[in-house]
Amino acid sequence: RAGSALSGKHVIVTAGPTHEPIDPVRYIANRSSGKQGYALAAALAGLGARVTLVSGPTALDCPDGVERIDVESARDMLAAVEGALPADAAVCVAAVADWRSEGVAGQKIKKQKDGLPDLHLVENPDILKTLSALKESRPDLVVGFAAETENVTEHARAKRERKDCDWIVANDVSFGEGGSVMGGDRNAVTLITAEGEVSWPEADKEQIAAQLAAEIEKHFR
Ligand code: PMT
Repeated sequence: RAGSALSGKHVIVTAGPTHEPIDPVRYIANRSSGKQGYALAAALAGLGARVTLVSGPTALDCPDGVERIDVESARDMLAAVEGALPADAAVCVAAVADWRSEGVAGQKIKKQKDGLPDLHLVENPDILKTLSALKESRPDLVVGFAAETENVTEHARAKRERKDCDWIVANDVSFGEGGSVMGGDRNAVTLITAEGEVSWPEADKEQIAAQLAAEIEKHFR
């Protein structure tokens, strides 16, 4: 878009859940639909950014003008993000599984007569933290999301410090009936930066995306 400070800037957006395989037919996942991340990718592309969307498994179409890289697991997502660098900004909207099964069975795990299968979990790499800790290739602006169900802004502030990202978008996933932010069409967030906080009331994910994209554009002015 003419006059946009995002023209020609490269922005990486992660979106969707990750799938962490247990055996050939089972995996660990979560309820993220990818809608918020895809809406953000579309809004940034609309402002002239070159957008690489690194997406876990979703049912969504790739927004116009966006390059999508499809991944399954957290480790795949990290590799794709690293492969997409350098970038001017990175926004981690994905709901990355915190844990994966240590081993992946080659065959479908059979139901056992007595006892349960021995599932041992190990921690996944943290993509946001990895990006924030980069030296030469750290994007100028690294943004995380924080899905919280209680003390939302307080927890998000702590998460921003812990992950060393520049901004964090606090997301109250308990609002709406039955906590419908993950998977649903609407969201309500608070953008937390070093300078302060701004809350955007409940709106469609497209609207939230447009507001965040506008803030990112302002950053590059
Ligand atoms: O996909 P939708 O259905 O539209 O739902 C959108 C959403 C609720 C998933 C999204 O708005 C959101 O809040 N995403 C972050 C979800 C989350 O669970 O965050 P977290 O608290 O686990 O992680 C905090 C931040 O670190 C996030 O930016 C996350 O992308 C990042 N992270 C986390 C773990 C990990 N291994 N790698 C990461 O990069």
